[in-house]
Amino acid sequence: MPIVKAVIPAAGMGTRFLPATKAMPKEMLPVVDKPAIQYVVEEAVRAGLHDVLMITGRNKNALENHFDRNTELEALLRTKGDQRRLQEVMHSTQLANMHYVRQGDPLGLGHAVLRAQMHVGNSPFAVLLGDDLIDSRDDLLGRMIDVHDQRATSVVALMEIDPALSHLYGIATVEVTDEDDVVKVTGLVEKPSVESAPSNLAVIGRYVLQPDVFSILESTEPGSGGEIQLTDALNTLTTSASGGGVHGVIFRGRRYDTGDRLDYLKAIVQVATSREDLGPDFTTWLREFVTRG
Ligand code: G1P
Repeated sequence: MPIVKAVIPAAGMGTRFLPATKAMPKEMLPVVDKPAIQYVVEEAVRAGLHDVLMITGRNKNALENHFDRNTELEALLRTKGDQRRLQEVMHSTQLANMHYVRQGDPLGLGHAVLRAQMHVGNSPFAVLLGDDLIDSRDDLLGRMIDVHDQRATSVVALMEIDPALSHLYGIATVEVTDEDDVVKVTGLVEKPSVESAPSNLAVIGRYVLQPDVFSILESTEPGSGGEIQLTDALNTLTTSASGGGVHGVIFRGRRYDTGDRLDYLKAIVQVATSREDLGPDFTTWLREFVTRG
């Protein structure tokens, strides 16, 4: 059965970006000229996932508005003959079939994903976290879907990190397979200390999951930070009889983190410098700026 549904948790409060996120969802912060969340929806669509369920919460109306039509604005741009901007504005509307469910209580990522159960049903699906942007030139999700289809297991995206950053990620225990970029995941732990981290392979925010994860999430107790963790449910899935276990795809491409202010600034610079329209001028300016000290 081909995977067609993507779940994008977007209910977080965005406290790291206050006061910018006092009245605006953090997912709407622009990375150059597009809100961060649009990159994530575009990535899902590129991988063939045209049905997108966003898990939202209070204060998130701007997300629904962004992916809906704005007929007044469209009419204005049409009158002005501004075709380019008209197309940009229409693009986010036409991207995917968007659906929304509110998380209610903010009980953690695992709880947010469990809210997708009714919509997803009994089929495999993908989860994309908005803080991780994957460069459109690197087809991580497509590769994960291939591995899922071949091995009939859940699949997480893994990336080698500096072990000093283990406390920020889910960290995997793995065994090698016959494929260079695929590992079997035998355990997962959420945000371990550097001393207790089982490897330097961190889960980055892309998952292709078997629906068995839902029943596991239902009985997953709060873990790290007092929250119901997706990582803990996937750890259970690594050893559960049903659900077929978990594999990891090791990603060696370009990932931009927008999760905190410093990483967000880096993400903007990385995306802007690789843009055809702005990149050359911005790179020239950046070089001068840096050498000026
Ligand atoms: C979440 C997950 C974590 C994962 C990370 C990737 O953590 O819980 O396992 O490694 O995303 O970005 P968060 O960054 O939401 O604290």
